[in-house]
Amino acid sequence: KTIAVIRGGKSAERKISLKTGKAILNALKSKNYTVVDIDPKEDLHQQLADNKIDIAFIALHGRYGEDGTIQGFLEMEGIPYTGSGVLGSALAMDKVSSKRVFEQMEISTPEFIVLKKEEYCNNKADIKTKIEEEFSLPVVVKPALEGSSLGLSITKDPSDLLGDIDQAFDYDEEVLIENYIPGREITVGILGNKELEALPVIEIRPREGVYDYEAKYTKGATKFIIPAELDETVYAKAQNLALQAHRALNCQGVSRVDMRVNPNGEVYVLEVNTIPGMTETSLLPQAAAKSGLEFPELVEKILKLAIE
Ligand code: DAL
Ligand code: MG
Repeated sequence: KTIAVIRGGKSAERKISLKTGKAILNALKSKNYTVVDIDPKEDLHQQLADNKIDIAFIALHGRYGEDGTIQGFLEMEGIPYTGSGVLGSALAMDKVSSKRVFEQMEISTPEFIVLKKEEYCNNKADIKTKIEEEFSLPVVVKPALEGSSLGLSITKDPSDLLGDIDQAFDYDEEVLIENYIPGREITVGILGNKELEALPVIEIRPREGVYDYEAKYTKGATKFIIPAELDETVYAKAQNLALQAHRALNCQGVSRVDMRVNPNGEVYVLEVNTIPGMTETSLLPQAAAKSGLEFPELVEKILKLAIE
């Protein structure tokens, strides 16, 4: 069988996707699979046909890759693909929709409001007042449809609020204002289809400030503790909540659920990533390695989950 590793694409996370895809290509080659490197910037239909592709390994992050669009396209082409389907991908990519599902399913998630661009632009002062009334700073400001913390701010100072919101609107038409959960940042990888496995919990400690784009992709900028040093009950709660979030959004195959734990041990789900970063130093591969699944085996497992 011929496997297409689809990477690159046109989202703001293109650079990360190229790295994720490269690591996946290498892993599949090391396992003797026939692989074709595809960048969907070109005519994707033609590339898939020319190369007689049997299975697609989607190594795209963000829009047009992680959001259900390419999944729908591959459904139409009749080509099986890794990870979540159309619905799961679309729900997980849109943080507003994800959080509405979490609330409905009683999966705890930080309180939030949604701002729409046009309304915001016409009423900035009123919206600032409303945010200050409803939340106590800091708040988290983030675009609804973005990954890798692009456009994200943790706003501590009221005088920064509008600037931070403007910046988030550079990325998207919808922006979330979320209650900031003090405490620790953790993440849990999930693998499987019908039977799901929660990987060891990772605690993320940026050496300074916030786990933002730079802390995510600069070597040594962040310390990872695997397994996270949490009370046994909090640890189990985090893994359970991650499984619930994955199921609630209809995810398949693989995901990584980002969460925060406050000082009382209460766990909140922030978001689910349906195509988590897969460079060899990324979070999910580190957690998998801790549970005995080395990178090439992890990649092979995700591939097999696509066709089982
Ligand atoms: N969106 C990035 C790639 C991640 O979640 O790992
Ligand atoms: Mg994300």
